[in-house]
Amino acid sequence: MAKIKIALVGVGNCASALIQGAQYYRNASEEEFVPGLLRANFGGYRPRDLEFVAAFDVNADKVGKDLGEAIFTSPNNTVKYSSVPLLGVEVKKGPVMDGLGKYLKPVVKVDKSQEPVDVSKVLKDSGAELLVNYLPVGSEAATKWYATRAIEAGCALVNCMPSFIASIPAWQKKFDRAGLPVAGDDVMSQIGATVLHKTMVKLLVDRGVKVEESYQLNIGGDTDFLNMIEEERLVSKRESKTSAVRAMVPYPIPLRIGPSDYVDFLENKKICYINIKGRYFGNTPVIIDAKLDVIDSPNSAGIVIDAVRATKIALDREIKGPLLSISAFAFKHPPQQLPYDIAKRWVEEFIEGERER
Ligand SMILES: NC(=O)c1ccc[n+]([C@@H]2O[C@H](COP(=O)([O-])OP(=O)(O)OC[C@H]3O[C@@H](n4cnc5c(N)ncnc54)[C@H](O)[C@@H]3O)[C@@H](O)[C@H]2O)c1
Repeated sequence: MAKIKIALVGVGNCASALIQGAQYYRNASEEEFVPGLLRANFGGYRPRDLEFVAAFDVNADKVGKDLGEAIFTSPNNTVKYSSVPLLGVEVKKGPVMDGLGKYLKPVVKVDKSQEPVDVSKVLKDSGAELLVNYLPVGSEAATKWYATRAIEAGCALVNCMPSFIASIPAWQKKFDRAGLPVAGDDVMSQIGATVLHKTMVKLLVDRGVKVEESYQLNIGGDTDFLNMIEEERLVSKRESKTSAVRAMVPYPIPLRIGPSDYVDFLENKKICYINIKGRYFGNTPVIIDAKLDVIDSPNSAGIVIDAVRATKIALDREIKGPLLSISAFAFKHPPQQLPYDIAKRWVEEFIEGERER
């Protein structure tokens, strides 16, 4: 099969885990079970078919470096589970816009003497087919700006963060008109807080429990969590995480879900506490308390490997506009919310060509 030519915006922990993952599983055989991938062979594409051809960041310590080095540059602090060779791709400077909030500005060094490049031109010259958006939470203007550059350059978009593009009809039309697919929004980790929370709530609903209220608290020690202590940047993140759980309950309930604090020594570890209260037969109370303890970035990397492969299949099949099945499977705030098992079935059908999008 052909390679999947990928451009990245935001060379942070998630980009690191994704690139390491493509390297770690490069020799995965046809039938091998790879934890975190729907299939090693996804519609003919394997992890080794991911080829990173362009990357954009603003951090002066990353700009100008080879992508294979930049992913291991501070403040990135996720685990190193694979060595990565030099990739022959230089990280280019993009415009800062609203990418850096008040807590990131002191830790992300920006060199004003480094001029931002012409992003559309770099995308075109690199031959990128799709752009993966890993900008920090709250980068509303920058996300729209990069989505527009992707369209100009003829690239599909895989939107891994919660500034809504794939789930917004006006943006769906823009990609549709450009003949390009779009997947998103806000990647849902393999065994992360959202899929665990929505699955537990759905179990209670399916078993006839009246769910009464629920909250989900999250802490971590990376730049993602540092950025997210700025509550004003969290509007879409809270909505993204909350909507995924809300969609599992057929009646309104009080929910409080989102990032809760930054604990620096946790580094890329994420701790999540979920509490659900309900009543079952005889109006009897039930309380579920769950704690999840994971390394955050590898938790989304396999999902993104599947998402880019689904988007590449859409490009091959000339499918344009929002990709419903992979978005419902791999993202928290898709164009259409589905229970996890149905979303997975839809993706299987999409791979087999039995479902258009
Ligand atoms: N499991 C997960 O880790 C997970 C799950 C869901 C969503 N996400 C989202 O994915 C995104 C990336 O997460 P991360 O952990 O890699 O964050 P990160 O902070 O490690 O990386 C963000 C990168 O973006 C760069 N950046 C900032 N402004 C920029 C600009 N204007 N142009 C180009 N680059 C810019 C930063 O310098 C940094 O390298 C976040 O929005 C996060 O919330 C992550």
